[in-house]
Amino acid sequence: MSQDAYRLIGPDGTESEHAVLTGTTGPDVIDIANLYREQGVFTYDPGFVATGSCKSDITFIDGEDGVLLYRGYPVEQLAKHSNFIEVSYLLLHGELPTTQELEEFDRTIRLHTMLNEGMLQFFNGFRYDAHPMAILSAVVGSMSAYYHDTLDTSNPEERDIFAHRILAKLPTIAAAAYKLSIGQPFMYPRNDLNYTENLLQMLFSVPAEPYVMDEIAAEALDLLFILHADHEQNCSTSTVRMAGSSGANPYSAIAAGISALWGPAHGGANEAVLEMLEEIGTVENISKYVDKAKDRDDPFRLMGFGHRVYKNFDPRATIIREMAHKVLAQLDNPDTPMFDLALELEQVALKDEYFIEKNLYPNVDFYSGIIYKALGIPTDMFTVMFALGRSVGWAAHWREMIADPKGKISRPRQLYTGPPQRDYVLVDERG
Ligand code: SDX
Repeated sequence: MSQDAYRLIGPDGTESEHAVLTGTTGPDVIDIANLYREQGVFTYDPGFVATGSCKSDITFIDGEDGVLLYRGYPVEQLAKHSNFIEVSYLLLHGELPTTQELEEFDRTIRLHTMLNEGMLQFFNGFRYDAHPMAILSAVVGSMSAYYHDTLDTSNPEERDIFAHRILAKLPTIAAAAYKLSIGQPFMYPRNDLNYTENLLQMLFSVPAEPYVMDEIAAEALDLLFILHADHEQNCSTSTVRMAGSSGANPYSAIAAGISALWGPAHGGANEAVLEMLEEIGTVENISKYVDKAKDRDDPFRLMGFGHRVYKNFDPRATIIREMAHKVLAQLDNPDTPMFDLALELEQVALKDEYFIEKNLYPNVDFYSGIIYKALGIPTDMFTVMFALGRSVGWAAHWREMIADPKGKISRPRQLYTGPPQRDYVLVDERG
């Protein structure tokens, strides 16, 4: 990386020099590691709006031009030509696989889809109406109890096994959570099916009769998983990197990422979009809710709109909108009122001065829920589906973080605004 420098002159005239680091593409960064030592101050950036937490080779986003690259490949090209397992190999290993590499990787993932039978007991302990994200986080966290002694994080092969287990077992855990919620028997994975076909049969097949594969659904889910696979230092991925930076068991770090993803400001937005559309109900109500979203005194936000990075459009939303059209058009009984409402809401919002001024456009979550709903997946499983796609991104970032020879524990500082030092007062002497 080429290096220039910023010179900082403090209020007392103290001068310091801070190196500029230039990446492959995108904004340069200022290395402030020496700031406190030389100027006696910290930076202050709540929510890390303008702060780079690490160097990464995995994913690049250009928020102005709506660019998303996985290891340099545009997500539009991967969506058109690739599949989720191949994209997973790319994210984990940095290069597209050869035919033999892809076959071996695919076989390896299929051979890791079963859970330890003891893990299945956990599901009986949850209430039938437990939120599946709570179950996913809990059961993935329990993987650290099963694999705590078989993971030497300094061993690349064991880091591979970790990634394989996460990628392969999350669909099985997700499907088991769904089966619990509907009182149906757990369905074991099948190694003769590909990743999304296997997920569909674990979700929707029953022992009482043969399962007829829905190829449209399998194709749509594969594309959705590609589009959700990674997104640089988003909230949940940063959580995985931070948790893993202490040397914690990586399965626990992934469980922490699942919890972070659950929030409605992040991956929980796809579930919140459908709830919002159901609340809006009709096209006639759209303007009332757009006005609520613009009212700073009203906590209501237009779920599925806005993004920390994309300030023009989310390239994934464009692809997903087109796929939503295709999926609904190919279904026998398309539930289009919700989709029609979403299309109209998007048009109204995109013409509204407030949304234009605030650069608020539909994001990845705005249309994905409509597709999940059309495929018969219940709303409370939408964020679980997001987690299945993002699992490989989390694993890739954990591997990059843990392999960094200069890596250190993530430990931000703060601006303290609490009480100045004061002496303890005995309870009898308090007012
Ligand atoms: C994902 O980071 C990632 O990459 C995330 C993700 C991924 O792949 O990992 O892309 C996935 O999480 C997509 C985002 C899903 N969340 C939602 O759809 C929830 C609704 N969106 C907002 O909560 C919000 O837009 C965020 C959280 C997505 C972004 O928030 P920021 O960047 O912190 O921006 P902000 O909250 O400071 O908003 C800037 C302004 C504010 O107004 P002012 O205070 O400047 O007057 O825009 C307003 C906000 O009030 N605003 C909205 C709005 N989003 C922002 N107003 C109404 N409706 C909205 N949706």
